[in-house]
This record gives sequence, structure tokens and C-alpha cells, in this order.
Amino acid sequence: MQTSKKITIAIDGFSSCGKSTLAKALAEKLGYIFIDSGAMYRAVALYAFQNKWISDSHFEKEKLIENLPNIQLHFELNSSTQKPEIYLNNQNVAAEIREITVSSLVSKVASIKEVRQKLVAEQREMGKKGGVVMDGRDIGSVVFPQAELKLFVTAKPEIRAQRRFLELKATDPNITLEEIENNLTERDEMDSSRDESPLIQTNDAVLLDNSDLNPAEQLEIAYGLVLERLR
Ligand code: CDP
Repeated sequence: MQTSKKITIAIDGFSSCGKSTLAKALAEKLGYIFIDSGAMYRAVALYAFQNKWISDSHFEKEKLIENLPNIQLHFELNSSTQKPEIYLNNQNVAAEIREITVSSLVSKVASIKEVRQKLVAEQREMGKKGGVVMDGRDIGSVVFPQAELKLFVTAKPEIRAQRRFLELKATDPNITLEEIENNLTERDEMDSSRDESPLIQTNDAVLLDNSDLNPAEQLEIAYGLVLERLR
């Protein structure tokens, strides 16, 4: 469906709760732009890792902050999958940013004020014309507090871990469910407790627990809410 009025849709929630799946499907259905803000934080974490400024045991924050102007991010649509893929300094890093190494470092990188300032400015620029569905942790609270529709998506932790396990096992046969459970718990804890733009459910966000919903069912609910906002 395409109408002349285009709203801004903010989707936030815990790790691996199906936010991106919902955001992408909703954007497709509405003819809107989909932006996965988490991919941007992941790409910055990858850059820091490639430069050896971060590992499990050390983090040279100042080096990363100094070099933020050298990080260029953009999305391009993959014509066969129809998924937007992220480019880090003109290199497609869509697959690398999903690896567990990046997942284990990204929340540390995302807690840095200067990183957030850069990415929030870029996200606002990408969404300034409306007609955007953006998913992340601070979209309804910080990036687009004026968004007409805010969703806070959640699911039971064991369901989220199982979904991510099935997703990652396809490319990493050595990955274990336990490793994923630990990563999700650790990231949720760091993302919710950090000083800079912690993950919160804003008062005006609609809670959507998709533990017992399939992607088509959650899309239907979200689409219904969009129609209400467009009326
Ligand atoms: O896909 P998943 O839900 O596991 O994570 P993601 O959306 O790819 O985000 C990866 C990490 O980036 C999160 O755990 C946060 O630390 C950070 N992030 C953030 O701080 N703010 C956002 N708007 C999006 C992601």
C-alpha cells in the first residue's frame, strides 16, 4: 500500500527479537525505506576490531574516537535478496558484521557517546523525509522521538536465542546455543544499563511480544497499527 502521507516508524527492542525482520517486511509493504541501525553499530565495531583497537580484553577507545571521521557507512540494496546491505568504506561487510566476534564487541562500541553522536546524526539524515522504518535500541527515544508509530518488540529469551542459533548455524556450524544465549544476555544487560541512550520502552511505544507469533502474524499486527496512524 502506498499513500501520500508518509510516517516515521521506530522499532526498538532486545537483541534478536525479530525487529529487523519486522522492519524490513513493513517497509516493503508500505514502500518505505528500511534502515537497520544495528548494522551501523556493528560496522563501527568491525572497523575497530580490524584495526586491533578492540578485543575481548582491551579497548583503545580514544583511537576509535579519533578515527570516527574516517568511517564512511552506506547501505545498498542487494538486487537478488532485496535486502539493504551495509558498506564500510565502500566494502560490503553485510556478512562479517553478523559474526559472533562482532556481536561480542558491539555493545562496548555502542556505549561510546561520540560513536552514537555520529551514527544518530547519519540516521536522522537518512530518515528526514519520513517514509522510513528504522529498528534499533534508541530509535523511538532518541533518533526519532516524534515518530508517529513506536513499537517495542520483545520475545522470551529462550525463543530469541533459538531463532538466532538457527540463523547463525547456517554460516557457522561450530556455533553453540550456549554461546548465543550468553551473548544475548550480555548485550541486553549492557544496552539497557549504559549511560548513553540506554534501551528503554518509551511511554508512547506499543509493546509487541512475538514469542508466539510468526513473521506474517507480527507483520499483520504492526500493519494494523500503521493504518490507524495513517487515518
Ligand atoms: O540483531 P540484534 O538484535 O542482535 O542486534 P542489532 O540490532 O544488530 O544491534 C547490535 C548492537 O548494536 C546492539 O546490541 C546495541 O549494542 C547496538 N545498537 C545500539 O546501541 N543502538 C541502536 N540503535 C542499534 C544497535
